[in-house]
Amino acid sequence: MIYNRNVFMDQESKWIMAIKEDELPEGEKTALLLEGNKVLLLKKEGVFFAMSNKCPHMECPLSKGTLEQYLIVCPCHDWKFDIRNGEFLNAKEIKVPVYQTKVEDGNVFVNMGGAGE
Ligand code: FES
Repeated sequence: MIYNRNVFMDQESKWIMAIKEDELPEGEKTALLLEGNKVLLLKKEGVFFAMSNKCPHMECPLSKGTLEQYLIVCPCHDWKFDIRNGEFLNAKEIKVPVYQTKVEDGNVFVNMGGAGE
């Protein structure tokens, strides 16, 4: 039987343990390497958000930017992205890939299945 493995792999969830819940204080961010992907993990209002750590403009690390409410400001040219959905504030069709997160037993997991949304 022949089938396209990639189709099935794209639909899978792949939860990767990222950090312990108490390692990241409220309002802070950290850069991680998960499954070979540069990931920015943030904690805002007690919720964890994960997105690619590469700015879609010129790939500057968003982890070196500043967090303003729910916006991460790129350190290179000040583009602003919503950490909840990855959207660029000035043109919503430009997006940073975002990843699902969950907390279980004090550990934070990021879903690296697929390429982010
Ligand atoms: S690299 Fe992020 S705004 Fe230019």
